[in-house]
Amino acid sequence: MHKLLPIGSLLTLLLANYASAAEVPEAAQSCVVCHGAQGEGTTQGPKLAGLSSSYMNAQIEHFISGDRKNVVMTLMAQSLVDLNVRKQALDYYATQGTAPKLQKRGDVLNQSGAEKLYYQGDLHRSLPACYSCHGPSAVGGGLFPRLAGQQSSYLKDQLIAWQDKERSGDPDNTMGHIASKLKDSEIQALADYLSAIK
Ligand code: HEC
Ligand code: HEC
Repeated sequence: MHKLLPIGSLLTLLLANYASAAEVPEAAQSCVVCHGAQGEGTTQGPKLAGLSSSYMNAQIEHFISGDRKNVVMTLMAQSLVDLNVRKQALDYYATQGTAPKLQKRGDVLNQSGAEKLYYQGDLHRSLPACYSCHGPSAVGGGLFPRLAGQQSSYLKDQLIAWQDKERSGDPDNTMGHIASKLKDSEIQALADYLSAIK
């Protein structure tokens, strides 16, 4: 009889897994293979958890208009023409993930390197502090995306895409101007710093 126990646990485990897979709304199921069931990101796509629905919607529009260039995501975006389906998928991912502990600007004024650039910018180059738009601990909000915990390679690729004029669509090309002022070493350091905020 004692052999029933492991079978029981196995069943519980299977049911638990089934339940978590079933929680992904149908609208978001085609995204899971690249963005993960909880929007945690995979080797095939960036993290979506914690990005606002409005920011993600703007990006879907950018992929459709060609302001952002990525073959697979353009095809996926084109499949999201039904705005109700699109909203269900984006709302789902927007509510996934946990927010990092908020770090106040005053706590980091003596920092150097990427953290200094993030919280203070560089006056000599008219480089604004990333903090002023992306917020404490890079949690973002509204149309300003969360950067905290995003994949380092993805963040780096996006900043380079703006430098190369491969990504656009944001108001007044704000990020394009900012990225053009960053050195390669700073892009790498910022990407590593931001991705490490958990
Ligand atoms: C085959 C892989 C793949 C699938 C499937 C996929 N994506 Fe993506 N997605 C990507 C990649 C890769 C990027 C980054 C593109 C880039 O570098 O510009 C991306 C980027 C995004 C972004 C922009 C993120 C940001 O931080 O700006 C959003 C929003 C998004 N995807 C939503 C979705 C949704 C919603 C679905 C499902 C309907 C989906 N994706 C399906 C691969 C995929
Ligand atoms: C004046 C406001 C502002 C400042 C300052 C700013 N950003 Fe942004 N950033 C934005 C906006 C708005 C977007 C979204 C652009 C879009 O909709 O395509 C963005 C997007 C990004 C993205 C893309 C994220 C993603 O998920 O694709 C990265 C990376 C980024 N910013 C890094 C930085 C860094 C690093 C700094 C500081 C050196 C910085 N930003 C300063 C407004 C700002």
